Amino acid sequence: MKWLGVGAVLLAAGCGPTPAAEYGEELFRDPTLSESQYNAFSCATCHATTATQPQDKLYAGLSLYNVAARPHWWGGYETRLLDAVNFCYTAFMRGVTPLAPEDPKSRALYEYLVSISPETQAPAQPFTIVKDITDVPRGNAERGADVYKAACQDCHGETHTGNGRNTEFASILPEVAKDYGQLFPGIPAGLVFIEKVRHGRFFGVGGNMPPYSQEALSNQDLGALLAYLGL
Ligand code: HEC
Ligand code: HEC
Repeated sequence: MKWLGVGAVLLAAGCGPTPAAEYGEELFRDPTLSESQYNAFSCATCHATTATQPQDKLYAGLSLYNVAARPHWWGGYETRLLDAVNFCYTAFMRGVTPLAPEDPKSRALYEYLVSISPETQAPAQPFTIVKDITDVPRGNAERGADVYKAACQDCHGETHTGNGRNTEFASILPEVAKDYGQLFPGIPAGLVFIEKVRHGRFFGVGGNMPPYSQEALSNQDLGALLAYLGL
């Protein structure tokens, strides 16, 4: 078994899900894959697994369909699939020790990722990080409400209350932005907010929220979201 794209060629030749792939899918949907008691996310919180994303979802991690057949990951930054997975595991799921190649859980996850990779070769996932934060034109607030539901609500819950959020660590939106004037003097609150969404962090500091690439969230949808949140 290899944690390399080429392994997928051999393994995808079988038919039907293997028991390992089924166990892998369970792990994919299970936040307790991470040993951290503070983690509330599973892989499925941030990733679709189908050829196209469901209409009512905007996942920060896009879809992992064909992921095992891609030549590299994270915009070329990761050249081993397990490293690409471990990036998410440690950066977002508070995993302390990266999953080891020989860990049965890694193997099962791998089998699952192979099972959702029907092609033998697939193009890399374009992944464009917005480097320098600039303001975006505010858009249609109605569209913004849909964007909020599709992208943010699973983690942050409903606006103003946080009802239904999957972790208490996820702040209540948009109220949290009221403090930005004090925390980041001289920077408009909307811009601070954009920084968080685009980088998952504040100017290089802190957090385990995923960053949204341009492919995951267009500037147009971001502008609509800001209009909806009144930022
Ligand atoms: C909190 C959100 C989040 C969680 C949880 C998460 N990921 Fe990700 N993942 C991302 C983002 C954002 C990217 C970068 C976007 C991209 O490249 O598709 C990414 C990228 C990846 C990539 C590289 C895709 C590529 O082609 O570049 C793999 C593989 C991956 N994730 C697997 C996993 C697995 C397996 C898990 C569970 C162990 C997981 N992720 C958990 C957000 C997350
Ligand atoms: C996978 C879960 C997840 C998703 C999806 C998510 N967030 Fe978050 N977000 C968090 C968590 C957890 C925090 C607190 C930790 C941190 O700052 O990273 C947070 C923090 C924030 C903050 C900073 C709050 C503060 O303390 O000042 C903002 C702003 C924010 N999110 C906006 C959004 C928006 C807008 C979306 C949708 C486009 C979104 N988030 C999607 C989990 C998520």
